[in-house]
Amino acid sequence: MKPTALVAGNWKMNGLASSQAELEALAAMLKEGGKAACDVLICPPFTLVSAFATAGYTGIAIGAQDCHTAASGAHTGDISVEMLRDAGASYVIVGHSERRADHAETDALVAQKAAAVLGAGLKAIVCVGETEAERDAGRTLEVVLSQIGQSLPDAATAENTIVAYEPVWAIGTGRTPTVEDVAEVHTAIRKSLVERFGDAGEGFAILYGGSVKPSNAAELMAAANVNGALVGGASLKAADFNGIIDAYR
Ligand code: 13P
Repeated sequence: MKPTALVAGNWKMNGLASSQAELEALAAMLKEGGKAACDVLICPPFTLVSAFATAGYTGIAIGAQDCHTAASGAHTGDISVEMLRDAGASYVIVGHSERRADHAETDALVAQKAAAVLGAGLKAIVCVGETEAERDAGRTLEVVLSQIGQSLPDAATAENTIVAYEPVWAIGTGRTPTVEDVAEVHTAIRKSLVERFGDAGEGFAILYGGSVKPSNAAELMAAANVNGALVGGASLKAADFNGIIDAYR
Protein backbone atom coordinates (compact mmCIF):
# COMPACT_ATOMS: atom_id res chain seq x y z
CA MET A 1 0.00 0.00 0.00
CA LYS A 2 1.33 3.40 -0.99
CA PRO A 3 1.18 6.07 1.74
CA THR A 4 -1.24 8.95 1.29
CA ALA A 5 0.78 12.15 1.27
CA LEU A 6 0.00 14.74 3.94
CA VAL A 7 0.96 18.39 4.20
CA ALA A 8 0.41 19.46 7.80
CA GLY A 9 0.76 22.91 9.33
CA ASN A 10 1.86 23.17 12.96
CA TRP A 11 0.97 26.65 14.13
CA LYS A 12 2.75 26.10 17.49
CA MET A 13 1.91 28.87 20.00
CA ASN A 14 0.62 31.28 17.36
CA GLY A 15 -2.83 32.40 16.35
CA LEU A 16 -5.52 34.53 17.88
CA ALA A 17 -9.16 34.69 16.91
CA SER A 18 -8.13 36.83 13.92
CA SER A 19 -6.39 33.74 12.50
CA GLN A 20 -9.82 32.73 11.30
CA ALA A 21 -9.34 35.14 8.41
CA GLU A 22 -6.08 33.37 7.55
CA LEU A 23 -7.77 29.98 7.29
CA GLU A 24 -10.54 31.45 5.19
CA ALA A 25 -7.91 32.74 2.78
CA LEU A 26 -6.22 29.35 2.76
CA ALA A 27 -9.49 27.58 2.03
CA ALA A 28 -10.19 29.95 -0.82
CA MET A 29 -6.73 29.37 -2.29
CA LEU A 30 -7.08 25.62 -2.05
CA LYS A 31 -10.35 25.87 -3.93
CA GLU A 32 -8.84 28.11 -6.57
CA GLY A 33 -5.76 25.99 -7.02
CA GLY A 34 -7.71 22.80 -7.53
CA LYS A 35 -7.66 19.72 -5.40
CA ALA A 36 -4.22 18.79 -4.16
CA ALA A 37 -3.17 15.16 -4.44
CA CYS A 38 -2.45 15.08 -0.72
CA ASP A 39 -4.29 15.39 2.57
CA VAL A 40 -4.07 18.83 4.17
CA LEU A 41 -4.08 19.43 7.92
CA ILE A 42 -3.80 22.48 10.16
CA CYS A 43 -2.90 22.08 13.84
CA PRO A 44 -3.69 25.41 15.48
CA PRO A 45 -3.32 26.06 19.21
CA PHE A 46 -5.96 24.38 21.42
CA THR A 47 -7.90 27.63 21.68
CA LEU A 48 -8.66 27.57 17.94
CA VAL A 49 -9.34 23.87 17.36
CA SER A 50 -13.07 24.08 17.90
CA ALA A 51 -13.54 27.25 15.86
CA PHE A 52 -11.54 25.87 12.94
CA ALA A 53 -13.14 22.44 13.08
CA THR A 54 -16.65 23.82 13.01
CA ALA A 55 -15.97 26.46 10.34
CA GLY A 56 -17.03 24.04 7.61
CA TYR A 57 -13.95 24.21 5.42
CA THR A 58 -13.75 21.31 3.05
CA GLY A 59 -10.47 19.64 2.24
CA ILE A 60 -8.67 20.72 5.43
CA ALA A 61 -8.52 18.52 8.52
CA ILE A 62 -7.94 20.05 11.94
CA GLY A 63 -5.60 18.64 14.56
CA ALA A 64 -3.94 19.45 17.87
CA GLN A 65 -0.30 19.71 18.93
CA ASP A 66 -0.24 17.61 22.11
CA CYS A 67 -2.46 15.70 24.55
CA HIS A 68 -2.43 13.99 27.93
CA THR A 69 -2.37 10.20 28.21
CA ALA A 70 -5.53 10.04 30.37
CA ALA A 71 -9.10 10.53 29.22
CA SER A 72 -10.00 12.85 32.10
CA GLY A 73 -9.09 13.57 35.70
CA ALA A 74 -7.01 15.68 38.03
CA HIS A 75 -4.41 16.99 35.58
CA THR A 76 -4.48 20.77 35.85
CA GLY A 77 -3.69 22.53 32.61
CA ASP A 78 -3.72 19.38 30.48
CA ILE A 79 -6.05 18.36 27.70
CA SER A 80 -7.26 14.87 26.78
CA VAL A 81 -7.74 13.28 23.39
CA GLU A 82 -11.43 12.90 24.20
CA MET A 83 -11.65 16.67 24.62
CA LEU A 84 -9.81 17.23 21.35
CA ARG A 85 -12.03 14.78 19.51
CA ASP A 86 -15.06 16.49 21.05
CA ALA A 87 -13.72 19.83 19.77
CA GLY A 88 -13.44 18.40 16.26
CA ALA A 89 -9.77 17.42 15.98
CA SER A 90 -8.98 14.36 13.91
CA TYR A 91 -5.17 14.31 14.34
CA VAL A 92 -2.81 14.94 17.26
CA ILE A 93 0.90 15.68 16.98
CA VAL A 94 2.88 13.92 19.73
CA GLY A 95 6.56 14.00 20.61
CA HIS A 96 7.44 17.24 18.86
CA SER A 97 11.03 18.15 19.73
CA GLU A 98 9.82 21.35 21.39
CA ARG A 99 7.73 19.25 23.79
CA ARG A 100 10.57 16.79 24.28
CA ALA A 101 12.92 19.71 25.10
CA ASP A 102 10.59 22.12 26.95
CA HIS A 103 8.65 19.49 28.90
CA ALA A 104 11.19 16.67 29.18
CA GLU A 105 8.94 14.27 27.27
CA THR A 106 10.50 10.84 26.90
CA ASP A 107 9.99 8.27 24.14
CA ALA A 108 7.95 6.18 26.62
CA LEU A 109 5.60 9.10 27.34
CA VAL A 110 5.30 9.89 23.63
CA ALA A 111 4.32 6.27 22.96
CA GLN A 112 1.67 6.47 25.72
CA LYS A 113 0.31 9.69 24.25
CA ALA A 114 0.22 8.16 20.77
CA ALA A 115 -1.60 5.12 22.18
CA ALA A 116 -4.17 7.44 23.77
CA VAL A 117 -4.67 9.18 20.43
CA LEU A 118 -5.17 5.89 18.59
CA GLY A 119 -7.39 4.54 21.36
CA ALA A 120 -9.73 7.49 20.87
CA GLY A 121 -9.89 6.84 17.15
CA LEU A 122 -7.78 9.83 16.07
CA LYS A 123 -4.60 9.80 14.01
CA ALA A 124 -1.22 10.36 15.65
CA ILE A 125 1.67 12.25 14.07
CA VAL A 126 4.72 10.98 15.95
CA CYS A 127 7.78 13.25 15.69
CA VAL A 128 11.42 12.22 15.83
CA GLY A 129 14.69 13.94 14.98
CA GLU A 130 18.31 14.39 15.99
CA THR A 131 19.96 17.46 17.51
CA GLU A 132 22.84 19.19 15.78
CA ALA A 133 25.32 17.70 18.24
CA GLU A 134 23.98 14.21 17.52
CA ARG A 135 24.27 14.77 13.76
CA ASP A 136 27.80 16.15 14.13
CA ALA A 137 28.72 13.05 16.13
CA GLY A 138 27.48 10.83 13.29
CA ARG A 139 24.64 9.50 15.44
CA THR A 140 21.65 10.61 13.34
CA LEU A 141 20.36 7.18 12.31
CA GLU A 142 21.02 5.64 15.71
CA VAL A 143 19.07 8.42 17.48
CA VAL A 144 16.20 8.57 15.01
CA LEU A 145 15.72 4.80 14.81
CA SER A 146 15.82 4.49 18.58
CA GLN A 147 13.14 7.19 18.87
CA ILE A 148 11.05 5.43 16.20
CA GLY A 149 11.36 2.10 17.99
CA GLN A 150 10.33 3.49 21.37
CA SER A 151 7.86 6.26 20.48
CA LEU A 152 5.51 4.23 18.28
CA PRO A 153 2.92 2.19 20.18
CA ASP A 154 2.14 -1.38 19.12
CA ALA A 155 -1.33 -0.23 18.04
CA ALA A 156 0.23 1.91 15.29
CA THR A 157 -0.91 1.11 11.76
CA ALA A 158 -0.38 2.78 8.40
CA GLU A 159 -3.95 4.07 8.63
CA ASN A 160 -3.76 5.66 12.08
CA THR A 161 -0.15 6.78 12.45
CA ILE A 162 2.08 9.19 10.58
CA VAL A 163 5.78 9.59 11.31
CA ALA A 164 7.42 13.02 11.08
CA TYR A 165 11.18 13.33 10.78
CA GLU A 166 12.21 16.76 12.01
CA PRO A 167 15.93 17.39 12.54
CA VAL A 168 15.96 19.67 15.60
CA TRP A 169 18.63 21.90 14.08
CA ALA A 170 16.52 22.51 10.96
CA ILE A 171 13.43 23.73 12.84
CA GLY A 172 12.91 27.44 12.46
CA THR A 173 16.48 28.02 11.32
CA GLY A 174 16.13 28.21 7.55
CA ARG A 175 18.64 25.35 7.31
CA THR A 176 17.69 21.96 5.90
CA PRO A 177 19.57 18.71 5.39
CA THR A 178 20.47 17.90 1.79
CA VAL A 179 17.90 15.97 -0.19
CA GLU A 180 20.26 12.98 -0.02
CA ASP A 181 20.46 13.20 3.77
CA VAL A 182 16.67 13.42 4.04
CA ALA A 183 16.28 10.40 1.74
CA GLU A 184 18.81 8.43 3.78
CA VAL A 185 16.96 9.00 7.06
CA HIS A 186 13.50 8.43 5.58
CA THR A 187 14.63 5.22 3.91
CA ALA A 188 16.11 4.00 7.20
CA ILE A 189 12.82 4.83 8.96
CA ARG A 190 10.90 2.94 6.24
CA LYS A 191 13.14 -0.09 6.72
CA SER A 192 12.59 -0.08 10.47
CA LEU A 193 8.81 0.21 9.99
CA VAL A 194 8.83 -2.78 7.63
CA GLU A 195 10.96 -4.76 10.08
CA ARG A 196 8.46 -4.10 12.87
CA PHE A 197 5.12 -4.04 11.04
CA GLY A 198 5.84 -6.23 8.02
CA ASP A 199 4.56 -5.18 4.59
CA ALA A 200 2.19 -2.74 6.34
CA GLY A 201 5.27 -0.68 7.16
CA GLU A 202 5.35 0.36 3.50
CA GLY A 203 2.08 2.21 3.99
CA PHE A 204 3.03 4.63 6.78
CA ALA A 205 3.37 8.24 5.62
CA ILE A 206 6.74 9.68 6.67
CA LEU A 207 6.72 13.49 6.69
CA TYR A 208 9.77 15.73 6.58
CA GLY A 209 9.74 18.83 8.78
CA GLY A 210 12.20 21.66 9.38
CA SER A 211 12.35 24.91 7.38
CA VAL A 212 10.09 23.65 4.58
CA LYS A 213 9.08 26.55 2.32
CA PRO A 214 7.67 26.96 -1.19
CA SER A 215 11.16 27.20 -2.71
CA ASN A 216 12.43 23.87 -1.33
CA ALA A 217 9.18 21.88 -0.99
CA ALA A 218 9.18 20.24 -4.41
CA GLU A 219 12.69 18.81 -4.14
CA LEU A 220 12.25 17.70 -0.53
CA MET A 221 8.88 16.08 -1.28
CA ALA A 222 10.40 14.23 -4.24
CA ALA A 223 13.06 12.55 -2.06
CA ALA A 224 12.82 8.80 -1.50
CA ASN A 225 10.28 7.81 1.17
CA VAL A 226 9.16 11.40 1.82
CA ASN A 227 5.35 11.43 1.90
CA GLY A 228 4.62 15.00 2.84
CA ALA A 229 5.67 17.82 5.12
CA LEU A 230 5.16 19.06 8.66
CA VAL A 231 5.40 22.81 8.32
CA GLY A 232 5.89 25.35 11.10
CA GLY A 233 6.51 28.99 10.25
CA ALA A 234 5.46 28.78 6.60
CA SER A 235 2.07 27.35 7.60
CA LEU A 236 1.14 30.66 9.22
CA LYS A 237 1.04 32.39 5.85
CA ALA A 238 -1.63 31.16 3.47
CA ALA A 239 0.45 31.94 0.37
CA ASP A 240 3.51 30.07 1.70
CA PHE A 241 1.52 27.05 2.90
CA ASN A 242 -0.30 26.95 -0.40
CA GLY A 243 3.03 27.17 -2.22
CA ILE A 244 4.20 24.09 -0.33
CA ILE A 245 1.00 22.21 -1.16
CA ASP A 246 1.77 23.04 -4.79
CA ALA A 247 4.35 20.22 -4.61
CA TYR A 248 1.30 17.91 -4.79
CA ARG A 249 -0.68 19.67 -7.48
P1 13P B 1 9.60 25.29 10.76
O1 13P B 1 8.86 24.90 9.49
O2 13P B 1 9.24 26.65 11.27
O3 13P B 1 11.06 25.05 10.65
O4 13P B 1 9.06 24.29 11.91
C1 13P B 1 9.03 22.94 11.66
C2 13P B 1 8.28 22.28 12.76
O5 13P B 1 8.74 22.21 13.89
C3 13P B 1 6.94 21.74 12.44
O6 13P B 1 6.47 20.93 13.45
